[in-house]
This record gives sequence, structure tokens and C-alpha cells, in this order.
Amino acid sequence: MKKGILFGLFVSLAAVVSVRAEDAGKTVYQQKCVMCHGKDGKGNAALSKVFKVDPSAMDLTSKSVQIKKDEDLNGATSKGKGKMPAFAGKLSAKEIAGVTGYVRTLAKAKPAAPEKSVPAPTAPATK
Ligand code: HEC
Repeated sequence: MKKGILFGLFVSLAAVVSVRAEDAGKTVYQQKCVMCHGKDGKGNAALSKVFKVDPSAMDLTSKSVQIKKDEDLNGATSKGKGKMPAFAGKLSAKEIAGVTGYVRTLAKAKPAAPEKSVPAPTAPATK
């Protein structure tokens, strides 16, 4: 494993910009969006009933959402929409752009991405 360290350093230095943005977006998504939009971005069906919105409105992987421009998705996230809360003031513009980027990756994984491909985050044993 150790021989990978130097190589890994190079790779991570080269990739640091792109990976960081997406990673940050993922973290934000998991903290702020997953409860409504689901881990896979397809929306929380139970909540869509509570909100009385069509489940497809909460499906961020849908074509109708994905054809929108980044600015529009950033705008929806920062200003909110319908039952969705506004995140301006809670998230920086950079975080919002990052989370939009992450939402795009969810849509790309759309054709039946097996749940297993993402290792379930195990809660750290905090005591
Ligand atoms: C409290 C639940 C809730 C949370 C939390 C939430 N959303 Fe939403 N979101 C919704 C609902 C409901 C809609 C559908 C709004 C509508 O069309 O009426 C929506 C719609 C959207 C849309 C589509 C807007 C459009 O133009 O069609 C985007 C993009 C979006 N959410 C991104 C996010 C992101 C990113 C986060 C996390 C930062 C987030 N949402 C957190 C409930 C939520």
C-alpha cells in the first residue's frame, strides 16, 4: 500500500480542485438536502405527500430539473421554491454551486445505479 503514497499525492494534488468542489457538494447535500430529496436525488415520496407536491417535483434527477441551467438550480437552492426552504444565508454561493454539481452527478448515475456502489456511511461511534 505504501508505494501508492507518492503517486497518490500527485493524483490528489492534480485532482484537488475538481474533487474538492464535488466532495463539498456531497457533504452539503447529505446534510441539507437528503432528507427531502433522498440519497439518490429522486425525492422523498413520503414527504412529497406531506408537502402535497408531485413526487416528480422533488426528483432532482428528472429531465425537467436537469435541463435547467446551473444558474437556475443555484437560484432555486438559494431562493427556495414552493415548499422548499431558501438556503441563501445558510450556504455560501460556493457551497450552492458545489451542491448543484453534486446533483448533476446523481442524475448521471441515473440508470439504476446499484445502491451498493456507495458504501453506506456508518455513523461514527460517538459516546
Ligand atoms: C424541506 C424539504 C427540502 C429540502 C431540505 C430541500 N429541498 Fe429542494 N425541493 C423541495 C421541494 C418540495 C421541491 C419542489 C418545489 C416545487 O416545485 O414546488 C424542491 C425542488 C428543488 C429543486 C428543483 C427546482 C426547480 O426549479 O424545479 C432543486 C434544484 C432543489 N430542490 C435543490 C435542493 C438542494 C440543493 C437542497 C439542499 C441544499 C434542497 N433542495 C433541500 C424540498 C426540499
